[in-house]
Amino acid sequence: MPEADNKQAKQFHPEIPQPTHGFFAKGAGALDWGMQHRLSRIFRPETGKVVMLAIDHGYFQGPTTGLERVDLNIVPLLEQTDALMLTRGILRSTIPPTYPRGIVMRCSGGPSILKELSNEELAVDVEDAIRMNVAAMTLQVFVGGEHETRTIHNMTRLVDAGLRYGIPVMAVTAVGRELVRDAKYLRLACRICAELGTQMVKTYYCDEDFETVTASCPVPIVMAGGKKLPELDALTMAYNAIQGGAAGVDMGRNIFQSDAPMAMLQAIRKIVHEGYTPKEAMEVYAELKNEQAREKREPVGIG
Ligand code: R5P
Repeated sequence: MPEADNKQAKQFHPEIPQPTHGFFAKGAGALDWGMQHRLSRIFRPETGKVVMLAIDHGYFQGPTTGLERVDLNIVPLLEQTDALMLTRGILRSTIPPTYPRGIVMRCSGGPSILKELSNEELAVDVEDAIRMNVAAMTLQVFVGGEHETRTIHNMTRLVDAGLRYGIPVMAVTAVGRELVRDAKYLRLACRICAELGTQMVKTYYCDEDFETVTASCPVPIVMAGGKKLPELDALTMAYNAIQGGAAGVDMGRNIFQSDAPMAMLQAIRKIVHEGYTPKEAMEVYAELKNEQAREKREPVGIG
């Protein structure tokens, strides 16, 4: 039988009010604990931002340059990522389950690069997302595309499934070669995704008025990378997006197709989490690139 409680020894601290915690992510204050916890595995609570690595390209374009061997080229980069966007196939087959950060799982698919890209369906059951303990689910939304309504409907069904189990959804919008990705279009596309319930949106940067895109979207916007640019241009784009109100970046080719992917990732982190300018980040990139090349030539411990 337990001993009778000794009130004197208990630490109730009636003089200290229990704090009520707010939540750092934009528009996420009214979400349930599980959703907020998952968002904290994507966005760093200390800065409110994310450096996400996108490696989901294979779901419609096969073994993309730089992703031929995810085990060799991508796994060593994971330690410098805050979140990873990928398909369940690569997740199960290749990513160590010890990866401690957020998994953002691609849940749409259908057409390959040989066909009309907007002709997508949901391609993952929410049960599998739960099984994989993902931090978020993601899909493409083609506003203005041939199958616009279908992709929006995919999104709302995924949002409903996510709300049922506390899993946020990130819509990816503005995909398509023929699109004019100006602020007017991006405002429209991002706002539609947020209005219909996604907890975050991934979209492209535009040179003019990007801040109106982030300001008019009530949930965090994460900048998409796009085709490979020279390193300084990619760093400048990331910097401008962050200064324009983006809550981070989700870049693929500009990282894994760089001459020095690890150095590039580290330089991007400096921009996103520490406010480095493109010039300062470029110096970090150049220095780390040389250092890492030296280490490859002369591995530590081999004398
Ligand atoms: C865009 O269509 C997809 O979500 C990707 O496969 C990917 O996220 C693109 O990344 P990036 O354009 O930075 O290479």
